[in-house]
Amino acid sequence: MKDLILVTGGTGYIGSHTAVELINEGYEVVIVDNLANSTADSLDGIEKITGVRPAFEQFDLCDKSLVEAFFEKYPKLKAIIHFAAYKAVGESVELPLKYYRNNLVSLMNLLECMGQFKVPSIVFSSSCTVYGQPKDLPVTENAPILPAESPYGNTKQICEEILRDSVHSMPDIRVIALRYFNPIGAHPTALIGELPRGIPNNLVPFVTQTAAGLRGELKVFGDDYPTPDGSAVRDYINVADLAKAHVSAIGRLLNQKNEANFEFFNLGTGRGSSVLEVVKTFEKVTGVSVNYKIVGRRAGDVVAVWADTSKANEVLGWKAATSLEDTLLSAWNWEKKLRGIQ
Ligand code: NAD
Ligand code: WQD
Repeated sequence: MKDLILVTGGTGYIGSHTAVELINEGYEVVIVDNLANSTADSLDGIEKITGVRPAFEQFDLCDKSLVEAFFEKYPKLKAIIHFAAYKAVGESVELPLKYYRNNLVSLMNLLECMGQFKVPSIVFSSSCTVYGQPKDLPVTENAPILPAESPYGNTKQICEEILRDSVHSMPDIRVIALRYFNPIGAHPTALIGELPRGIPNNLVPFVTQTAAGLRGELKVFGDDYPTPDGSAVRDYINVADLAKAHVSAIGRLLNQKNEANFEFFNLGTGRGSSVLEVVKTFEKVTGVSVNYKIVGRRAGDVVAVWADTSKANEVLGWKAATSLEDTLLSAWNWEKKLRGIQ
């Protein structure tokens, strides 16, 4: 058995897929989650896929005394992957303090305990949202960080700053921030996947729910962008591929192969796809038609963004492998399983 890794937010969407990949690589995993945006069913899925049920501690990472008690209980802890955060962009505009408190305090509690209990390594879930609309595409890690469009996006920028200042003052601490582009899809077994609460904000869950008959119509936000078909372009990355990059990042930190104490990597496919391309590809691979209507642009949306992934490819030795077709099929298989569709 390799080292013990804490996966915060590990019953959530990306965390559960990462727990699977860590266990498959022989790591021991302990998950902390307060189930604010997930259910303990993910643990069953992880166990069915890997044959191992990870340890699970249900509590709120904003409670410092509980975080300290956790570090005391797991003295063999070697590294942390910090997924736990709130992530709904629209809600963050309505309830900014909820987002600032949860996303910043949970990270600060972890960092303080990392110093106190000598657990030096952390992988942090950041987002391509920090780049806003980049001037040059594909976007590299050297692109400027632009003013955030939402309190949620701002929490990612502030967390990166907190990490930067912390490695400066605590030289033993090593950080890898992974900037995800648009994670989509589900595990190929359809045993774990995304569980959006209420009406989905993100494109692919809205597409699968429309195809499943839960939503009457997908609204395509804008067809007058300066892109080949007029709809906005994003870099949609398969969630299981994304999860594997975290295993590479953990290996790099544990083997002390990092060149600097704070490193950043873009995680995407390196390819942009438009909204209409996603809808049409989904229809082609599933044979199910999606009722959609073109409406006006959504406030705050950028025109086009996709990743230059060469740094992650070369330094982490990681590359996205799954096609958009297979990824959309995995999203559909997960939706069908959730809704009991044959
Ligand atoms: P998710 O909501 O499915 O998972 C996050 C998990 O964290 C949930 O299970 C939730 O219950 C838990 N959590 C939240 N606050 C907590 C707290 N205070 N204490 C304990 N547990 C807490 O989200 P996800 O899509 O898996 O995202 C994981 C991370 O990746 C987040 O930090 C998110 O901001 C980031 N990210 C996500 C995307 C995306 O599109 N999904 C894109 C870029 C970055
Ligand atoms: C993708 C495209 C929409 C829904 C968000 C966050 C970002 C990151 C990933 C966490 C856009 C269009 C969508 C719909 C549509 N999350 N769309 N109809 O906006 O790129 O990024 O999730 O860090 O921070 O902002 O992803 O899936 O919402 O949208 O036409 O019903 O699909 O306009 O062009 P986005 P998304």
